[in-house]
Amino acid sequence: MAFSLRRQHVPKILLALGSVLFLKLVFSSSGSNPAKNSVEEINVFERVTGADKTLNVQRYKSLQARIGRDEREDIFDDIVQDGIEDYWQRFHIPFVTGSDTSQTDVQNVLNAVESLLSLNGWVAAYCPTLVRPFGQNRNSDDAYGELVQGDHLYYIGLAIHSADHFLVDQLAVIVQMAKRFGTSNLFVSMLDYDSTDSTATLTDLCEAVLTLLGIPYRIRRVPGMTEDPTAAYYPAEEAHMRNLALEPLFELYHKRNIKFNRVIWLKGFTCPNDIFETLKVSVANEAALVCGMDWAAAELNGHFVFSDRWRTRDIRGDQFRQSKSSEKLDAVPPRDEVGAARYIAHLPFQVFCCEAGTHVVDPEQSYYKGIKYRYGIDFHNASLSDTAPERTPDAQCLDSTQAYFCRDLWTSKAREGVIDEDTPDHSATAGNRNVRRDGEQDPDWARRDEEDSDANAGSDFDAMPDSDQPLDSLPTGKISVPNSVYQPARILVNPRCVTTYAGVSHTQLALDLFGTGDDEPQGNATKYVLDDWEGAPESFVCQEQSQTGGRKAAKTQRLLGFSIHEELRRDETDL
Ligand SMILES: *[C@@H]1O[C@H](CO)[C@@H](O)[C@H](O)[C@H]1NC(C)=O
Ligand SMILES: *[C@@H]1O[C@H](CO)[C@@H](O)[C@H](O)[C@H]1NC(C)=O
Repeated sequence: MAFSLRRQHVPKILLALGSVLFLKLVFSSSGSNPAKNSVEEINVFERVTGADKTLNVQRYKSLQARIGRDEREDIFDDIVQDGIEDYWQRFHIPFVTGSDTSQTDVQNVLNAVESLLSLNGWVAAYCPTLVRPFGQNRNSDDAYGELVQGDHLYYIGLAIHSADHFLVDQLAVIVQMAKRFGTSNLFVSMLDYDSTDSTATLTDLCEAVLTLLGIPYRIRRVPGMTEDPTAAYYPAEEAHMRNLALEPLFELYHKRNIKFNRVIWLKGFTCPNDIFETLKVSVANEAALVCGMDWAAAELNGHFVFSDRWRTRDIRGDQFRQSKSSEKLDAVPPRDEVGAARYIAHLPFQVFCCEAGTHVVDPEQSYYKGIKYRYGIDFHNASLSDTAPERTPDAQCLDSTQAYFCRDLWTSKAREGVIDEDTPDHSATAGNRNVRRDGEQDPDWARRDEEDSDANAGSDFDAMPDSDQPLDSLPTGKISVPNSVYQPARILVNPRCVTTYAGVSHTQLALDLFGTGDDEPQGNATKYVLDDWEGAPESFVCQEQSQTGGRKAAKTQRLLGFSIHEELRRDETDL
């Protein structure tokens, strides 16, 4: 737990929490009545005058809502209560004698806001000192001007399941973003899924900070989907959490016609500039999805290894390697040549699917089109019977909700049509590519993350162990329309967006990945934009959880065909 690692920070946090909660009690009126907490519809007056499409929390109280607060007692309750009482007695009672002293209160609030805006977390404070290519950190003052001037709205989503060790830093990152974008250009949606650590307390802190800063938010706690966690189906939980975290996005869209430019899913810890960089990559490429890269620490020899091999697939549908951050040239995470070459040059590269840490979604190409998070429903419930029913070799892949989301993005983009005959031919390269079938083994060092006490924090907690078994080749069969004829989904990995977890030496990781950071500065946008987009792979490595058993349920792996033509046909028959 974070507090055992960071005991020295506890008094500081409690002090902040005490004063901030006090101010919150004084200034906020947000309750926990669900009806009141849902977004208000535009009223008649607004309809006549033209709806106010802003996220103004002073005007629309429902833009700051707390649902399902954890009211259970905890060990800090007394301390917090004492802090509030003390603050009231010493700093308020003496001044609240009449209206002539009321400006003292205002000053208190302004001071609190000012010090909150400099909240830099424990790790975030080091961000500007970390090495990044192309002078990303050196030039940051003007580098994001265009993003900021755009005056767009950004939606920040967090699905938290017992992850208190980065919540404070994530809050710091949100505050830093609010500073650049403006506090009313963000909406923060935090979904606490049945956390059992100090997440509940820390979300109180988040609530207080966001309330004071006037940042719109919805913080919601929900119980687990099943009483017995071992009877849970993890992909269903993933989908459930994310769809709930997106609820305000849909409410704001349907009830107030407010649209967000991008949705930022915060996972683990990512520096603010790296998020801005990913937003730039997303906008410049009109990308549907841009992911960072997860680097978890493997304790032995102090390596950092790429860790999100459950959900990430390169543009050939292959798995990423569990590479070391210091790996150069021949064993980098993406296995496809184009991706590997761009990775080495620190440039964004196209993939079939990714999630790896903080990632940015274009809602226009996804959520506003009706795509939601889903999962395969024909999993086996091991609590009901011991024997799993047989599944056919081409049965749908029971993998993560993100893998479904990526396939849905490909299919949805394909619906826009086939590639114009006059544009350069993509099919020559894409059509015949095949996924590695030789069971290539990763080097031995790659298996040690079990020994890392913090390993379960990283996304690789979800990956299955590397298998030595070669994958069966695909059954040859139906002739269908090649995927390469359809408009390709724009899914990218931005290797400059580093996501890490607690206990990682960020300075060393940055040096491993980017050396001195003295790459040729490039004066124009070419470093962001991909010219050639491939079609979807005809097959991919499917890693599935075919039965219940919670997050750690056994996974199996097979090679599975992916035919957009078939997907489109299936959609038609479903209609
Ligand atoms: C599996 O079955 C058990 C027992 O009926 C039930 O409690 C649980 O919710 C089921 N799990 C899923 C994921 O449906
Ligand atoms: C951008 O850089 C590329 C490659 O360095 C170059 O070919 C191109 O002309 C540049 N464009 C502008 C507008 O400077």
